[in-house]
Order: sequence, then structure tokens, then C-alpha cells
Amino acid sequence: MRFDIITLFPEIIDFFKIGLVGKAQQNNLIQVACWNPRDFSTSPHKQVDDRPYGGEPGMVLQYQPIVDTLNHIKKTHPYSDQDRHIVYLCPAGKPFNQSMIASFKEKKQFILIAGRYEGIDQRIIDHHVDSLWSTGPYVLSGGELPACAIIDALSRSIDGVLGNKASYENDALSEHYAIKHPVYTRPRIIDGHAVPEALLSGDPKKISQWQDEQRNHNKEKSD
Ligand SMILES: C[S@@+](CC[C@H](N)C(=O)[O-])C[C@H]1O[C@@H](n2cnc3c(N)ncnc32)[C@H](O)[C@@H]1O
Repeated sequence: MRFDIITLFPEIIDFFKIGLVGKAQQNNLIQVACWNPRDFSTSPHKQVDDRPYGGEPGMVLQYQPIVDTLNHIKKTHPYSDQDRHIVYLCPAGKPFNQSMIASFKEKKQFILIAGRYEGIDQRIIDHHVDSLWSTGPYVLSGGELPACAIIDALSRSIDGVLGNKASYENDALSEHYAIKHPVYTRPRIIDGHAVPEALLSGDPKKISQWQDEQRNHNKEKSD
């Protein structure tokens, strides 16, 4: 799976060289590339934004630098329309969730447009974007962190990215992912707090029964 991020701040995506997603890139299971629309601006001062029509405050990212970046990505990394999905990260977009990962698992390329300022010229959305996705009901300063969150979540579904396939299947059980059972690790007792006996029993049936019973364990602190 390939991810192309259109961003004015590629440095924010840099942390992806570490951890699980970094390893997936090293192993060529995914490819992540950033493209700065400033490099594609045809204006003499490499301008990428301008004031909005209608007299509102703030700045809007212009059509030309973003669409030329998009066309360059399409030309240098060609995929069919069916294999490619173009997303604008937007607070008002569809809330990204675990079940969307399964529906988009077969795509080969995602082009993620990270907005800044007051967003991007609407004509980009109308004529070049397939979906608007949000990572939550809040407004961030840019789409880079949402892009990273979505790339991370989608990458986990790719064979070989997680050492243990069951971990993804565990994530993917949509009725369970949000209410995972509690997990514990060594030591067995710390500060007087002991690991539940059922987990130490070595009996898979007993362990899975305990895990099912405990799915709501964290509910009180999650409400
Ligand atoms: C300051 S915000 C734009 C705010 C603008 N008033 C709006 O409602 O779209 C700048 C950029 O951050 C990104 N962004 C902010 N919050 C987001 C969220 N919750 N999910 C996805 N992208 C978000 C979008 O790309 C947006 O264009």
C-alpha cells in the first residue's frame, strides 16, 4: 500500500521513520512519501495561499499548487482510479473508524491532502477528491496528524506489518476493538496489585471466558 501526503510541513510526518510504520516502510510493505505544494507553485514567490473570496479572515490553500502536486503524483506513481483513493483531511469529514479499514484494505494508493489555515479551495474537493475524512470532532492546525493516524491504522491491516496476525484480527473485530479486555504483563504483583488469577491458570477456555467477562472493565473511565 502506498501513501502520498500533500503537505506544507513534511517534517511532521518524519516520525514515521520509527516504530511499526517505520519498520513496515523498511520492509517495503508500505511506501510513504510527502509532496510539498510549494514546490509546484507557479507563482514567483512560491505562494500557495490567498485570501478567501467573501471577505472572511484567514487564508485558503490555492487550487493550482495542490492540483499540480496531485497530477505529478498520479503521473510518477500511476494507479487506476479503482486502486487509488484521494482523501482530503477535514474536521467536517466522515469520522474515520475501524470498519472503514476493512472496506479500503484492497486500495493500492492513498493520496492524503493535509489542509492548513482555513482549508483548501472548494474546487479541489469538488473535482479531485474522493472522500473527506476526519479523525475526530475537534479542529487541529493541519491535516498532518490525521494523515499519520490514518496511515498507521490502515498499515496495521497489511499482511506482515504486525508480527502477530491475531493482533490485527483483534483490532478488526469492530464490536470488540473499542472495548478490549484488560491486559497485564510482568511482574505478577506490583505495589500490592496482583494479576487476575484466571490469566495465570494456563487454561485457554478459562482465560477467554475471563476476557469476555471483563470487556467492560474500563467502561467507567471511558464515559
Ligand atoms: C485549522 S484547520 C481548518 C479549519 C477550517 N475552519 C475548517 O473547518 O475546515 C486546518 C486543516 O487541518 C485539518 N484538520 C483539522 N482538524 C481536523 C480533523 N479533526 N480531522 C481531519 N483533518 C483536520 C484539515 O486539513 C484542515 O484543512
